[in-house]
Amino acid sequence: MSVHEVTSHGTPKASDLALGFRPGSQLGLAIAREVASYIDTGAGRGLGLQFVKHLSERSLVRYLSSLRQSAGRGHTAAGHLVQVRITVMRLYTTDRESILIALNQIKKSLSGKALDILTKNAAIMDSSLDGVVSMDNLRRAFEVNVEAVHDATAACLPQLREGTQRKVFNLSSDVGSITLGRRLIDLPFPTYNIVKIALNALTVQYALEFEKEGFTFFAVSPGWFRTNMVTDIADLDVSTGASTELDVLSCLGAHINGKFLNVHVPGWEQAEGLHQYDGGELP
Ligand SMILES: NC(=O)c1ccc[n+]([C@@H]2O[C@H](COP(=O)([O-])OP(=O)(O)OC[C@H]3O[C@@H](n4cnc5c(N)ncnc54)[C@H](OP(=O)(O)O)[C@@H]3O)[C@@H](O)[C@H]2O)c1
Repeated sequence: MSVHEVTSHGTPKASDLALGFRPGSQLGLAIAREVASYIDTGAGRGLGLQFVKHLSERSLVRYLSSLRQSAGRGHTAAGHLVQVRITVMRLYTTDRESILIALNQIKKSLSGKALDILTKNAAIMDSSLDGVVSMDNLRRAFEVNVEAVHDATAACLPQLREGTQRKVFNLSSDVGSITLGRRLIDLPFPTYNIVKIALNALTVQYALEFEKEGFTFFAVSPGWFRTNMVTDIADLDVSTGASTELDVLSCLGAHINGKFLNVHVPGWEQAEGLHQYDGGELP
């Protein structure tokens, strides 16, 4: 399903327009076309893989995608990406040496051009079935979902500074909302909830510190969709997840700096159940 098919029937809400978020708009497609270069971490499967595939349909865009493994388990994904002319590099985000090696590859691949957009998809979600007291996975979860995001961001800043877009977005989740915490309390993922809250805090810190340089940092809750991380019970297919993520790129300008954004999926604005996707700002 293309971006336009997914989103063109939606009527933007006032909240969308306030954020400049126009699902399916030509603006969204235009910005994707204008992007000179783009890095996505965690493109070995799930949302990251689907997202760069969607982006690759925009012919003027140059993508660099990172996979934890481009051989072995990641071989098939790497093959797909290379076929659609995406530069693939190996990046184990929790390994600083790996980040430095990837950075050299990025510089070489950009050959003097700027990096415009950095997206961080790579994440893990471990359960703690017996509740918050039983959590024994917090340190690792912080390492992958927060510290590694920080390390990758810090490493890419010089390349982003060379560009004019200077856009960085982190894949968060509505579980990263303190206000919505009560609604999601029955899910057996307290560690994940905590690290996504921390990721949102990290995003705000970068946003406030770098706004004077024209950077836009924001966090996106991409919806609940079916990948390895979440199985059959989720609301959306991964293609819709990737399309809505692309729509979020239509949010232009400083007004979304430091915001925590919900995606817009037409028909899901006031859905019953745990998740609604109205394209607004999350608390
Ligand atoms: N699925 C959902 O419903 C949902 C909902 C809300 C938010 N999100 C967020 O959306 C993003 C993508 O989720 P997803 O469902 O697509 O996840 P996924 O299918 O589990 O894929 C996660 C990706 O992250 C990579 N990764 C994990 N640790 C890494 C590391 N240390 N270095 C490099 N790569 C690493 C994995 O690489 P390997 O393939 O090598 O393991 C994989 O490509 C995540 O940030 C997630 O928290 C997802």
